[in-house]
Amino acid sequence: MRIKVIFFGYRYQLLVLVTFVILVYVYVNLRFVQEHVQECQSAQQTPVIYIITPTVSTFEQKADLTRLSHTLRLVENVHWIVVEDSNTKTTMVANLLKESGLRYTHLNSPTDKHAKRFDDGVLISRGVVQRNEGLNWLRNNTYHSSTNGGVVYFADDDNTYSLRIFEEMRSTKKVSVWPVGLAGHLRFETPIVKNGKVVGWFAWAPTRSFAIDMCGFSVNLKLILDFPNVRFKSIQGELESHFLSSLNITLDDLEPKAKLCTEILVWHTRTERSIVEKNNVDKSIYIGEGTLNTEELKNVIRKSQSSIEV
Ligand code: UGA
Ligand code: MN
Repeated sequence: MRIKVIFFGYRYQLLVLVTFVILVYVYVNLRFVQEHVQECQSAQQTPVIYIITPTVSTFEQKADLTRLSHTLRLVENVHWIVVEDSNTKTTMVANLLKESGLRYTHLNSPTDKHAKRFDDGVLISRGVVQRNEGLNWLRNNTYHSSTNGGVVYFADDDNTYSLRIFEEMRSTKKVSVWPVGLAGHLRFETPIVKNGKVVGWFAWAPTRSFAIDMCGFSVNLKLILDFPNVRFKSIQGELESHFLSSLNITLDDLEPKAKLCTEILVWHTRTERSIVEKNNVDKSIYIGEGTLNTEELKNVIRKSQSSIEV
């Protein structure tokens, strides 16, 4: 009789345990499904921001891209289109994108450094070929009706972006504009706004139709798709102005953001090129208290130098 009670008790405990495990399993899965549904709903409601970034191999490239990727990780619903100025996609950028956790597209397109340095008689501006490659990708891979539309922004890898600028640009209907700090050899450049409308420019060469830096505007995806032949052209000082003019817009169409252009939320900072001496093991060696002698230490450093990813 006693044996039977113990046996029954054991079966009972087992039943409770199994039920508990099943309940936890169902709860976790329900939460997962619920979160997924919420994510999909918010993705549908929030226009995607397509960010096109040209990038070129320099000592500072990984640092610049790391900083930008960390900024973008804090922005909802972005798709990062990184276009390398190179003949092939590099492993460094591929790994950085994979580890970023962002939705991304990795492209490459080299600026011809020799034969075709001139585009309509002008030296090819930095990032032009790559931005055009990004535009091609958008035109081949997105549609008017996809989700809730999208917004396109050209974000160079060395600028500084407030998170707020992404939320400002998300509502772009045609073209949004805003001030840019540290641009055009001025403390800031800005569209001049009167009664809620852009009426002119405070900027370097203000007589341009659209006197604004690349990081000072965003364009609705629909406009990019509606004008399939519009691309960047290296016209001296007119890179941005020519591009915006080709979209058949007027000042009246511009949507002034950042509290009617009274706030600076993006800065045209530039990364100083580092002067890196040729790795000189003899010069930089640190002789610690370990048991290795100088020659062994040099070998350790040489080995790490040849394998380290910078
Ligand atoms: C300024 C403007 O802000 C750029 O939008 C414009 O393209 C450039 O001038 C120009 O007209 O040449 P700036 O800071 O002088 O920018 O240029 P960078 O930041 O050196 O280059 C712009 C972008 O192109 C960066 O994302 C950079 O990584 C990339 N880049 C630069 C290349 O893809 N290839 C290069 O050879 C150099
Ligand atoms: Mn720059």
